[in-house]
Amino acid sequence: MDDALAWNLQADLAIMNPTTPGRVLAAARLAGIGADDLVLDLGCGSGGALALLAESFGCRGLGIERRPAAVEAARARIAAGGCGDRVEVRCGDAADPGDLPDGVTVALCLGSASAFGGVEGAIGALSRLLPPGGRAILGERYWRTERVPPEFARDFSDCVTEYELLSIAREQGFSLAGIVRSTEVEFDAYEGAIWAACRARLRADPEDETVRDYLDRIQDEYLGYGREYVGWAMYVLEGAD
Ligand SMILES: C[S@@+](CC[C@H](N)C(=O)[O-])C[C@H]1O[C@@H](n2cnc3c(N)ncnc32)[C@H](O)[C@@H]1O
Repeated sequence: MDDALAWNLQADLAIMNPTTPGRVLAAARLAGIGADDLVLDLGCGSGGALALLAESFGCRGLGIERRPAAVEAARARIAAGGCGDRVEVRCGDAADPGDLPDGVTVALCLGSASAFGGVEGAIGALSRLLPPGGRAILGERYWRTERVPPEFARDFSDCVTEYELLSIAREQGFSLAGIVRSTEVEFDAYEGAIWAACRARLRADPEDETVRDYLDRIQDEYLGYGREYVGWAMYVLEGAD
């Protein structure tokens, strides 16, 4: 499956993860985001979270996203919300972001840990990029149990349990300030939105075997084991002063 097509199938979602704008706001409140903050969003996708935070809390923002179409969508979304003067989106590699502006106080990594090789790499990057006392919101999949059958565990080799995530965060100098967990209903809604996008494409082109195979595969994964073993949550982390 073409990576760009997989991205496009999610492009219209408000947040490209199994969560809701309301939960992103809840995590932001736990992180104490306000007008004085400069929020760095690593792998910002089409800018849904950054736009929401800038509109709701008056913060400034910088998004980094490798996909040019996403950068364009993010800039348009942020401008439409009237925040174009406070929020910048750069096209580039979040793992090698180059010079960052002074004064970043909060960093988001929502569904983008793969840019850093997984959760451990992402938490390490958040710790390096933030100043003392900085806050981070990491949103990622987790194993709901340590007893995941190996044939499933192989499919998500960078997934960790929440207990492992907690240990990694502490090793990197963070304390865990809160968790905003998605429900199974929200996970169903997220998967269902991607299935709907696939089905719309198949109505337009019933011969598109790539989309048909992808839809079959993600439904098999989800009903076969994803729904039982995989959860999604946002972890609000605070660095030591
Ligand atoms: C699951 S989407 C989440 C997007 C956004 N954080 C959200 O919650 O709506 C992951 C995003 O990370 C981006 N990404 C992945 N690796 C990246 C990298 N190395 N540098 C920048 N962006 C990256 C992808 O292009 C994609 O837009």
